[in-house]
Amino acid sequence: MSSCGGPWMQRMGSCHARTRGRCRAAFAKPERMRIAFAHNLRRALTWRRPRPDIYRSGEDMFKLLADNIAQLAWIAEPDGRMSWYNKRWLEFSGTTQEQMRKLGWEHVHHPDHLDRVRQKVQRHLQTGEPWKDLVAQRRSDGVYRWFLSHAFPLRDETGRILKWFGTNTDITEQLALEEELRASDRRKSEFISVLAHELRNPMAPLWNSLEILQRFPAQDEKQVRALAVAERQVRHMAKLLDDLLDISRVGTGKLHIEREPCDAAGIASQVVGDFAGVFATRGVALEGTGLDRPCRVLGDASRITQALSNLLSNAVKFTPKGGRVRVRVGRSEGQVEIAVSDSGRGIAAEMLPTLFQPFRTHMDRESLKEGGLGLGLPLVKHLVEAQGGTVEARSEGCGRGAEFILRLPAAAPGGQAAEPARPLPAYASAEI
Ligand SMILES: Nc1ncnc2c1ncn2[C@@H]1O[C@H](COP(=O)(O)OP(=O)(O)OP(=O)(O)O)[C@@H](O)[C@H]1O
Ligand SMILES: [Mg+2]
Repeated sequence: MSSCGGPWMQRMGSCHARTRGRCRAAFAKPERMRIAFAHNLRRALTWRRPRPDIYRSGEDMFKLLADNIAQLAWIAEPDGRMSWYNKRWLEFSGTTQEQMRKLGWEHVHHPDHLDRVRQKVQRHLQTGEPWKDLVAQRRSDGVYRWFLSHAFPLRDETGRILKWFGTNTDITEQLALEEELRASDRRKSEFISVLAHELRNPMAPLWNSLEILQRFPAQDEKQVRALAVAERQVRHMAKLLDDLLDISRVGTGKLHIEREPCDAAGIASQVVGDFAGVFATRGVALEGTGLDRPCRVLGDASRITQALSNLLSNAVKFTPKGGRVRVRVGRSEGQVEIAVSDSGRGIAAEMLPTLFQPFRTHMDRESLKEGGLGLGLPLVKHLVEAQGGTVEARSEGCGRGAEFILRLPAAAPGGQAAEPARPLPAYASAEI
């Protein structure tokens, strides 16, 4: 069967009846393939199938396409007046072209959203910017469905807008699914929160008992070691539970942040002091740069301490004996930078993009050995972003160390932030 008017892929294997013999001969020899290809291409470009009636004019073709796409489609004039709706729109809303022209698009939109949509329409008509919005539209049975509405201006060669062409895509099911996902994420966060609380309760009596035991002189070396192990493990458990609690608070939007002007250098120097013992024990050098000059930041001192502590505990964990870690505080472009760099094992390029996602530790055997949950970096990110800042991770690759840079708004002399605090981001905050 002739296929020269059909899709090109088909044509490569089956030629027009008149050329079939020549094609076969051409395919037999590779050098002839090029000639056959050119021949077929020429035929494809010149051959015309007798057109059925529906293709008579470009307008027919457009109508056929517009009426058969899955979306509700429409055309508006440059002043925003709607001048045409496709068949799906009319079927969906149970109206006719004339009714829609007379009553306007407002007739089928949810009354609660009308003012907002009208204002947005006006803005787009003035600026000529492509349109995108989420709108609720009434079906013929009175039920409202959610549509993702897009429109683009069609312009002439001088840039003047001739028409707006728009489509509305029904995304009601997707939105319901997203809501379900968000609800299940909230339930998960609540579960983690209850679990962490319950597990945290026995920690206080454990601490007290340990303290009492440590007051008595140890009988022998074994007892000293056992007490040290118990203390280390209880401390570790307390940190894991605190992180779990905080991450669940992030998920439920309950993480508490209080911003006021404070000294980033002072905070960093205190944290460096707190970690001096751990670093000495692990044989890793810890240095500070710029910690002796005050550097005013607008943030929550205890949350900055928490973020920096997480970075330092990572740095010491992933830097082998003999390595060094540097904490640097300084100003850059109206922001305060607190950077922690290490000479440790580094981070593979493919790990960098997902580093701040929770529970990534399972990707990494070394980290698993260290007993982390993979919550430190996600917490750092949320803590810093909740204060209007950012965090960046850099590494040249495995074995080449890593650097984490916190950037927070510098406090202006009056104590105000250079930029307002952003709302606390939740894990499942995707909105259309
Ligand atoms: N300084 C670093 N050098 C190399 N890898 C790092 C460094 N900091 C973090 N990572 C990698 O990023 C992963 C995630 O870090 P994160 O702090 O979130 O979790 P963790 O330290 O494993 O556990 P947790 O902080 O919950 O105790 C780590 O497991 C490790 O693979
Ligand atoms: Mg960590």
